[in-house]
Parts: sequence; C-alpha cells; structure tokens
Amino acid sequence: MFKVIANTQLSPNVWRLDVMAPRIAQVRRAGQFVIVCRDENSERIPLTVADASPSEGWITLVIQAIGKSTRQLVELKPGEFIRDISGPLGRPTELAEAGAKAVCVGGGVGTGVVHPIAQALHAKGVNVVSVIGGRSKPWVFFEAELKRYGQVVVCTDDGSYGRKGFVTDAVKEQLEAGGVNVVYAVGPVPMMRAMANLTKPYGVHTVVSLNPIMVDGTGMCGGCRVTVGDQVKFACVDGPEFDGHQVDFDNLWDRLGMYKPEEKNALELFQHKCQCNQ
Ligand code: NAD
Ligand code: FES
Repeated sequence: MFKVIANTQLSPNVWRLDVMAPRIAQVRRAGQFVIVCRDENSERIPLTVADASPSEGWITLVIQAIGKSTRQLVELKPGEFIRDISGPLGRPTELAEAGAKAVCVGGGVGTGVVHPIAQALHAKGVNVVSVIGGRSKPWVFFEAELKRYGQVVVCTDDGSYGRKGFVTDAVKEQLEAGGVNVVYAVGPVPMMRAMANLTKPYGVHTVVSLNPIMVDGTGMCGGCRVTVGDQVKFACVDGPEFDGHQVDFDNLWDRLGMYKPEEKNALELFQHKCQCNQ
C-alpha cells in the first residue's frame, strides 16, 4: 500500500499526487514510469514519475483526469492509500552531453512528463530551455518548477498568459536562433507530430514520449506496440521515448482511438453512479 501525502490541482483537469514509495524514489530515473492500480478492481494506469525525493521517499505523479479510473485516482485525499504501484518501468531518457543546449517542450499535461527530463539534463550540466503550453492561463503549470533548471517560455493558445500561440511557434524561434542540439517534446499526439515536422529540416534530434494503451507494462501483452522506423516496438520496454523523426504518428493515433467507445461508456456509467449517490 502506498500512502498519498499531498493532492494538488494544477489545472482544470490535471492533478499532482505526491505518494510515499521509497524504493521507487531511490532508483527511478528521468523518462521512467510506473503502473498504478488504485484498488483491486481498478484499471492499471501508466504514469510518468514526474519528480521524486530519495531522501524523503516520495514520488510525484501528474494525472490528467479524463476517464473513470483517472477521476477516481485524483479523488484520493492525503492519508488515503493506493493499492499497487509497479515500477520504475521503461527505459530512462538518453540525456544530452554536458554543455549541449536542449529545448524541453511540454504541451498541456505533457509538461509533467518533461519536468524530470529537464531536471536530469540540468543536473548533468546541459543548458536547458523549457517551452510549455496550455489552452489559456489556468492550463499552464510547473512554470516555477522548470525555472529551477533554466529559461522558461510560456505559450497559451489564446494569449491570456505568456506569448500567444502553440509551443511550436516558440520552438521555431529557438531553432532559428541556432545552437539547439536536441529537442525533447511531450504532449498530445498532434503536438509531437508537429514538433517532429518542425525540427526535421533543421536536423535537430527530437525525442518524443509516447503514450499508447498499456496493460502489463512489461512487454507481455503487446497492447503498447508502436511503429518506429518501420519496426514494431513496445513502448513499455523499448520506450516510452523514441526518435520523433521515426515515429509513425498515424498508427499511434489510430491505436489510441481503438477503445474510445468503451472508455466513454465506462465514464458515463461512473458519472451516473456518482449522481445516484448524491
Ligand atoms: P492540449 O490539447 O490542451 O494542448 C496543449 C498544448 O499543446 C497547446 O497549448 C499547444 O501549445 C500544444 N499543441 C496542441 N496541439 C498542437 C498542434 N497541433 N501543433 C502544435 N502544438 C500543439 O493538451 P492536453 O489536453 O493537456 O493533452 C491531452 C493529450 O495529451 C491527451 O490526448 C493525452 O492522451 C496526451 N498525453 C500524452 C502524454 C505523453 O506522454 N505523450 C502523456 C499524457 C497525456
Ligand atoms: Fe503490454 Fe507494453 S504494456 S507489452
């Protein structure tokens, strides 16, 4: 059992849970994730370890509450418990060399995933610029946290905070200015695809973190298969980070939509039950 020690809302649909998990906090590395199961009947949810304290024993999970299981998870209060957390899973981020310049891009909830990458790059002596985006001001989070690791450029779709426009607009300026060795981009699939298309003509290596459907997280079920450079890979053991210029984003998009009707049904049933219990 894993005790929740803090629950903070970061944006209209994103929460931060800090959970005691001392063994994971000791060994996790940037880019790795855990599989969380709230109770014995819950769905298994893959979540990046967004931060951790090896000395205090907690890990941070950033959760977008969009379906039944994620909504149940963000309802947990400090002092309550998560039944299972398995991990760390997946391959750690391949970090750029000290002295390189890296642009870390977070679109919406992807900002939580890019946070540990920026943190590890900074610790290694890489010059980090973070570019984070949200629909409008309330959707932007982790600006202060990322400022610990270097310059932060904030973008909002409607211009209500930071600069107006998508994160791709701000990254284009960084690429035009020159000196960028690598881009790490995490967010919605259209954003990661747009980022890979943007950086390709500049010849800048671009790492994306993929979020296909996962079940076991250990390479057994095949649920998380993605196509990268015409090869089938399993995001849970071969990734979740891949070369964005090699990823087949159409295939990823199609597979992510496969269970949408079932997900919608489960959410509607959950919301109906909540209303009946009021
Ligand atoms: P969102 O739709 O609010 O977009 C966030 C930001 O991404 C925007 O403000 C913009 O700057 C950028 N963006 C979006 N579309 C773009 C495009 N076409 N071109 C360039 N930039 C674009 O994002 P959200 O609601 O926070 O994210 C939701 C999606 O992210 C979900 O579909 C979820 O599955 C996915 N997700 C991905 C990961 C991952 O590891 N890659 C993790 C969690 C969630
Ligand atoms: Fe089952 Fe990756 S989640 S193989």
